[in-house]
Amino acid sequence: MAQRIVCAGGALRGTLSVPGNKSQTHRALMFGALADGPSRIRCGLDAGDTRCTRAAMVACGAQVDNDAEGWVVRPPDRLGEPADVIDCGNSGTTIRLLAGLFAGQPDRFFVLTGDGSLRRRPMGRIIEPLRAMGADIWARDGDRLAPLAIRGRVLAGVHHDLALPSAQLKSALLLAGLRTGISLTQPGESRDHTERMLQALGAPLTTDGTRIELEPVERLSAFDWTISGDPSSAAFWLVAASVTPGSELRLTEVGLNPTRTGVIEVLQAMGADLEITVTALDPEPRGEIVVRHASLRGTRIDGALALRALDELPVLGVAAAFADGTTTIADAAELRVKESDRLARMETGLKAFGIDVEPLPDGMRIEGQPQPQDVATMPRVDGSGDHRIVMAFAVAGHVRGGVVLDGAEEVGSSYPSFFDDLERLSEGTPA
Ligand code: S3P
Repeated sequence: MAQRIVCAGGALRGTLSVPGNKSQTHRALMFGALADGPSRIRCGLDAGDTRCTRAAMVACGAQVDNDAEGWVVRPPDRLGEPADVIDCGNSGTTIRLLAGLFAGQPDRFFVLTGDGSLRRRPMGRIIEPLRAMGADIWARDGDRLAPLAIRGRVLAGVHHDLALPSAQLKSALLLAGLRTGISLTQPGESRDHTERMLQALGAPLTTDGTRIELEPVERLSAFDWTISGDPSSAAFWLVAASVTPGSELRLTEVGLNPTRTGVIEVLQAMGADLEITVTALDPEPRGEIVVRHASLRGTRIDGALALRALDELPVLGVAAAFADGTTTIADAAELRVKESDRLARMETGLKAFGIDVEPLPDGMRIEGQPQPQDVATMPRVDGSGDHRIVMAFAVAGHVRGGVVLDGAEEVGSSYPSFFDDLERLSEGTPA
């Protein structure tokens, strides 16, 4: 496990295009392998998680080539049977979406596994509804944990009332339902990249945000897509620049899909100085964000807003730690089953920075400390298995006296150049 020290740094200034949207990249690779001809993916995320999805599609007979403009995906006539176990690494999106896709591939056998973090994450949430469609799918620990073994079959297109507002669950079922059609009701509006992309590729899908209906699809259309910057990666810079005096960053081509912009809404409620310009709407809204240092105040993050800011809550916790007043995060119990128990990791990490945190079953209360306090030793934070915990506390260390990060290499899952960007944008030592 790699350890890294992030020293206290000065103002963050400059222009940055963050890496491509991870959720969109996974889906584009999968849909490219199902399309009716070669597709082009521009600005896709090349990182640990998406490399797993790419390798899985290649193992099923797709060809994915790099050229000067990005990647070209050439689909097989029909998805083939991989010759080996598919390693999904640290990526929940890879394992859950592929489980749905593979469950509906008759006469094919698949085994999906991943790293230690992924093998601890709940899989029952996809196994049970897939079985209700007739899927032949098995897993370790009473069908709760990966590895998963799947024998593909012709599935039945049943209706699902989803128990969770989860985009991975929703997308797994939509992929399982491609040939038969399917309908779903979701208890909250999770990110809608799958629905938008399927519609753009000619799938007969209708949705009002709660109910989603998909008619059977013969073959998806080939496409040429530009993937926008990942708002979850942009979030580290939005917070870092907001809390570091003298900062001004220009983030270009950031994805602004409204199911993903919770981080912007929360920071605006905290008094952040953000200037947003929408530059394109197709295939999803994207634009430029200029962020300047501002004095932040505490806020409340719960309900649908917590869902729209789900992956950004660790770094929003860091924003809350340096804001004036109390911040309450609620309705975020799902964070306990991400790449790590993020609520527990946030609590211990923030406490290492001398911040008062009161844990709640589904969130936490954070007492902000806008003025630095003396901390005797440099805080040490465990980011093993969890890229977003590493990056959130790198931001905290940059602003407040430095940090020792265990598991720093995890940034490779979603943002391999994160530390290089931090060094490049940081102007020397703190004022
Ligand atoms: C993702 C969905 C989210 C998110 C994850 C990526 C996706 O998980 O936390 O990082 O690409 O569908 P759930 O919506 O399943 O909780």
